[in-house]
Amino acid sequence: MSNKQVTLSTKKYMPDPNYRKEAWCKDAEHAYQGYITDPDGFWARISHELEWFQPWETVKEWQYPFARWFINGKTNVSYNCLDRHIAGHRRNKVAIFWQGDDGSTRSLTYWQLLREVERFANGLKSLGVGKGDTVCIYMPNVPEQIIAMLACARIGAVHSVVFAGFGSDALHARITGAGAKVVITADASIRRGKTIPLKPILEEALINATSVDHVVVLRTQTPKISLLSDFERDFYELMEESDKNCAPESMDAEDPLFILYTSGTTGQPKGIVHTTGGYMVGTYYTSKYVLDIKDSDVYWCTADPGWITGHSYIVYGPLLMGATIFITEGTPDYPDAGIWWKYIEKFGISIMYTAPTAIRMFMRFGEEYPNRYDLSSLRLLGSVGEPLNPEAFEWFYHTIGKGKLPIVDTWWQTETGMHMITTMIGEPMKPGFAGKPIPGILIDIVDKEGKPVPPGISGQLIIKEPWPSMVRMVHQNEERYRLYWSGPENSFTASDLAVRDEEGYVMILGRSDDLIIVSGHNIGTAEVESALVAHKAVAEAAVVGIPDEMKGNRILAFVLLREGFIETPKLKQDLLYHVRITLGPIAVPSEIRVVDSLPKTRSGKIMRRVLRATELGEDPGDLSTIEE
Ligand code: WT7
Repeated sequence: MSNKQVTLSTKKYMPDPNYRKEAWCKDAEHAYQGYITDPDGFWARISHELEWFQPWETVKEWQYPFARWFINGKTNVSYNCLDRHIAGHRRNKVAIFWQGDDGSTRSLTYWQLLREVERFANGLKSLGVGKGDTVCIYMPNVPEQIIAMLACARIGAVHSVVFAGFGSDALHARITGAGAKVVITADASIRRGKTIPLKPILEEALINATSVDHVVVLRTQTPKISLLSDFERDFYELMEESDKNCAPESMDAEDPLFILYTSGTTGQPKGIVHTTGGYMVGTYYTSKYVLDIKDSDVYWCTADPGWITGHSYIVYGPLLMGATIFITEGTPDYPDAGIWWKYIEKFGISIMYTAPTAIRMFMRFGEEYPNRYDLSSLRLLGSVGEPLNPEAFEWFYHTIGKGKLPIVDTWWQTETGMHMITTMIGEPMKPGFAGKPIPGILIDIVDKEGKPVPPGISGQLIIKEPWPSMVRMVHQNEERYRLYWSGPENSFTASDLAVRDEEGYVMILGRSDDLIIVSGHNIGTAEVESALVAHKAVAEAAVVGIPDEMKGNRILAFVLLREGFIETPKLKQDLLYHVRITLGPIAVPSEIRVVDSLPKTRSGKIMRRVLRATELGEDPGDLSTIEE
């Protein structure tokens, strides 16, 4: 990586000062100084807004590279998300509004949600699930997915949610990797009015997954699909047969809450482990001060619970805040491109947290869609997953925000668990820049030698101090965990390139490793390559990310065919199907190119950067190690 000079725009939007007056965070600068003066006191104060069955003794213990937070504190995240509100004024408040893509809606109050979570938690217990066991959740975006997550948290089971867009091989790797005892799924998901079977994908994934004792199936279709007795159980039957009261398990602050797999650079996904106390405090803190959730809000995060965004900012953070959340199983352009704006009008959504790829899609459809609806309930907009480019920022700001709403572009990762960098509500916004580190977070941008780079020069983004919701371990891979903390002075390396301006605003430039962010989803080049090579026609494959106006990046795959195979449109289509079935639709290359050779180093490593540079007509850089 070379440290390049980046020309930075100086455009600034000043939000209405009233936003600041009414926000939870009235003065980010002051809060930041408060953290610097007394870091432990800062996190301690936030932790006291949540309930602990036994108070913690020490805020943190940092023995490089392992941190423990809220030592000896005992609590339960589901208790804090549910029971805490039931006891107070939120008992009958709507927790979840759900909208199906067929027009049907459902809602659950905090009271109702707790009832269902308790019963389902007992149901899981009756299947032999206990504290420390792992449960895999492979479901569409329906309330039952949230119920399943909270039920696990209630009994101390570790959930591992797998996005329903993953294919059977990807699911298999995640089930066996985490050693799941139970898998919770649904018969199908609904996309664009069509029923997409989910359970057959799971069935394939279960072959040779020896840890699994039971499968729980949410059956939504009529006639109901039949289940294998004993091994497979119906979601609601299991719930109804179970006792209605389930006391929350007392969890140590450092007991794991969940594992979430994220793409790796080696082809093996990494099981990111998050624990109870720190994750709870971190997601609560940011849901309050960054997303500014209040009791009067209807909050919508358009992600899926299958990603960290969904874990932290659909489920845990907002429910810890006692928010009314909105979720939908539908797609943004079905039945037409106005559907999201229609939901905003219909439910009075006041906070919308979405992704640049969605914003760019809406830009293409044009303003007439949002302009058809009353968006006056909105008061805060958010973005996550990839850089919010200036054009998308402008469109979001003017067309949706009507030139007055604050936008929080939040930079963070599966590993960070919570927001790290953004422009706090009420602060001046700069298109293209995520913003500054939030109070509680210390970052830097460094060169190859680990020295901080001056403003305007790009470098590696690092996080200098531990934070409560930081990754605790990579499941069964301590070596990989240690690698995160290999930055200068024992800092955390984010594997993102970034640049700062004179005022300390950070612009994220993209990944510095072999991950490609496609439509905000993190995809490992190695994962796609191994899926391609698993096809009998492919000898070798190399996958690169190419900038794409809509998706941020798209996947371009170069393949070298085995002897006896020739390039035909059918073969290429076959390869695409193959990736789709094994890894899932999100990992499918936008193009497959058959080549005669691949550029390699003398040690045999494929030089993806050379392929990428050649494709883009850029300078491929140092070629001294190339073989041919
Ligand atoms: C990577 C993490 C955590 C959210 C969902 C993705 C990119 C994330 C931003 C942003 C620019 C961003 C980074 C990061 N990213 N948010 N606001 N601006 N880039 O989680 O799958 O762990 O991916 O997403 O490259 O490293 P993830």
